Amino acid sequence: MGNGIAQVAARSGFDVVMGDVAQEFLDRGMASVEKSLQRDVDKERLTKDDKRSIIGRIHTTTDLSALSKAFIVVEAVTENFEVKSEVFKTLDRLTKPETILASNTSSISITRLGAATQRPDKVIGMHFMNPVPVMKLVEIIRGAATSDETFEKTRGLTEKLGKLPLECHDSPGFVSNRVLMPMINEAVFALYEGVATRESIDGIMKLGMNHPMGPLALADFIGLDVCLAIMNVLHDGFSDSKYRPCPLLKRYVDAGWLGKKTGRGFYEY
Ligand code: 3HC
Repeated sequence: MGNGIAQVAARSGFDVVMGDVAQEFLDRGMASVEKSLQRDVDKERLTKDDKRSIIGRIHTTTDLSALSKAFIVVEAVTENFEVKSEVFKTLDRLTKPETILASNTSSISITRLGAATQRPDKVIGMHFMNPVPVMKLVEIIRGAATSDETFEKTRGLTEKLGKLPLECHDSPGFVSNRVLMPMINEAVFALYEGVATRESIDGIMKLGMNHPMGPLALADFIGLDVCLAIMNVLHDGFSDSKYRPCPLLKRYVDAGWLGKKTGRGFYEY
């Protein structure tokens, strides 16, 4: 999702620094940006020159100190609190005191991420949807200490990116994944219990509810590890058994069948 966010920001005219732990991930990210922009060139919605300029506005680095001049940093690392809080501590040390530190987390507490820094008033959730260049929504999450100023600046920036900001409070899964993930988990239970085939489950939800994708295909698209991590956050956060992750979802993640990104999930790619 990080490369999608970088692409959207660069397309809106911002200079972007995209950081990652290894060059190969940055190269993969830039290849995704290239492919995504090329779709628009092919459809004559973007000129080749504009595509080149957008790509030219994205600078890649494995040295996070290159983010020191940023007015906002949007973190999109793996969906794990320990990893994210370490990144927030590092960003807190490296960036200007007025820099906003946003997280693209799917479900982790913004309040807890804020508390890992010396600037909890400038920590906010900026939850983009996948695929980032296509999806209009950004769920904006205010932590307990997020200031009104940080919220207003983040909302303004989201609009400049051509997205629609919708606000919610910090609660496990926020709104998007509190509603979406139990539906996906229930679809996995239906498969696990043999209620229907994967094609029927997806077909029923796609055609019957007018969803663009069935829930199993969507889970593969999001990543089964991400879906499981979110279910665990809901389960721990609400201490309610209705959020227990389906054993089949756990088994697939244990097997390394994480969906589209590994070539196998509920479907083969
Ligand atoms: N970059 C740029 N454009 C893209 C793209 C990408 N990566 N992927 C698709 N597109 C564009 C296509 O060019 C096409 O544009 P057009 O209609 O203007 O010509 C349009 O999107 C539709 O693409 P396709 O025709 O190739 O394929 P589909 O019609 O099947 O659409 C989809 C693909 C947009 C992914 C659609 O299936 C969809 O909306 N799926 C549901 C996505 C969803 O629910 N996302 C939210 C997931 S939850 C989440 O992200 C939160 C996280 O915390 C878990």
